[in-house]
Amino acid sequence: MDKVVINGGRRLEGQITVSGAKNAVLPILAATLLTEDKSVIKNVPRVVDVQTIIKIIEALGVQVNNEGDRVEVIPGRYTSFTAPYELVSTMRASVCVLGALLAKVGRARVSMPGGCVIGLRPVDLHLKGLRALGAKIKFNHGYIDAVSSCLRGADIYLGGAFGSSVLATANVMMAATLAKGRTVIEGAACEPEIVDLGNFLNKMGAGISGHNSPVIVIDGVKKLHGAEHTVIADRIEAGTYMIAGAITKGDITLKNVCFSHLGAVIDKLKEAGVDILKGNGFLRVRREKELKPIDVTTLPYPGFPTDLQAQMTALMAVAGGISIITEKIYPGRFMHVSELNRMGAEIYIEGPSAIVKGVKSLSGAPVMASDLRASAALILAGLTAKGKTEVSRIYHLDRGYEKIEDKLSVLGADILRQKE
Ligand code: UD1
Repeated sequence: MDKVVINGGRRLEGQITVSGAKNAVLPILAATLLTEDKSVIKNVPRVVDVQTIIKIIEALGVQVNNEGDRVEVIPGRYTSFTAPYELVSTMRASVCVLGALLAKVGRARVSMPGGCVIGLRPVDLHLKGLRALGAKIKFNHGYIDAVSSCLRGADIYLGGAFGSSVLATANVMMAATLAKGRTVIEGAACEPEIVDLGNFLNKMGAGISGHNSPVIVIDGVKKLHGAEHTVIADRIEAGTYMIAGAITKGDITLKNVCFSHLGAVIDKLKEAGVDILKGNGFLRVRREKELKPIDVTTLPYPGFPTDLQAQMTALMAVAGGISIITEKIYPGRFMHVSELNRMGAEIYIEGPSAIVKGVKSLSGAPVMASDLRASAALILAGLTAKGKTEVSRIYHLDRGYEKIEDKLSVLGADILRQKE
């Protein structure tokens, strides 16, 4: 197993390019299954989660060609409709093939994704939406077994206890494209990744409107065709590097950024005393002043993203005062806190909030990554800490960040990957 070793204290400076959005490309690759034709997806990040969805698509008997950041999917005829446990268990987002398979071949067997360290993560909203379209769904031996001879449009409310669901919206939207008649999803997720999926589906010939609002209307069509699409930039990767610039008192420029997707993140970083300059397709992040403590609450888009909560907690760990970070999407998503405290942070958990008492500096230590974004938070802490930080179990990191140690090295970080 690999670990990342960081010698902290270097100021980050320079320019890097943000990769395509992992959370956009996963449902988009699933959507390519809605036609027999070839689709071409560009700006695909080279991360393990993308390899996992490609393996799932290949397990259905579908041809996939992947070269660099370009993926070609040529569905032709399926030989299977099962997304197997071995693959789904490594990535919950695999559940996004459910809607596409059901719509295209009338049958889907997808291993039931389990809980994970960031919380329970049920799939009730996915199933509620697909059942409303007419699917018959059973659970057999750990699998979701869905069949439908003909999906029919319906009015569906998809809001849940913690707000809208990104992948439930994606699944229902995909299934509804080939359903008979009109589907209206209320309480739909408005995340940019859903907008990107809707845009791709429309390029395939779907009749979707309102897919940047909580009410999405889908007029079913008989057939979809192949399409070419360039995936949007990864706002979570961008946000992580913005925080890297801020935590090291650096001056970095990010290319291939979409500012409008980063409104809440830019606002919170400015409030913390970080200078953000927007240029033509790039964003410059510079910190000269001391960090101010701020309160952050994660919310569905356009609120502050839960996927940047751990990284923001690391930043506030070295701000001068008390910050309150409240998690409204996954109330238990604080596994990074005990590891940050091992590095000298003073963070206390009170229900769904982390009370962060900023300290002058962190001290490098061996720490363990528990999930994808927690790994990023520990790396950020390591960049500012005094001395050596070793982050182990970094396979989580490779699921969602393309070449993170290379990009940070370009910015001047002393970081390398080692075999444990
Ligand atoms: C997606 C993102 C993930 C991000 C999350 C929230 C992808 C591949 N992953 O995950 O990185 O952290 O959005 O922004 O896009 N819920 C239910 N019932 C359901 C589904 C979800 O109660 O059927 C709850 C979840 O437990 C959570 C909340 O709804 O509390 C939001 O989860 P959801 O938006 O569904 O997350 P994902 O789409 O799985």
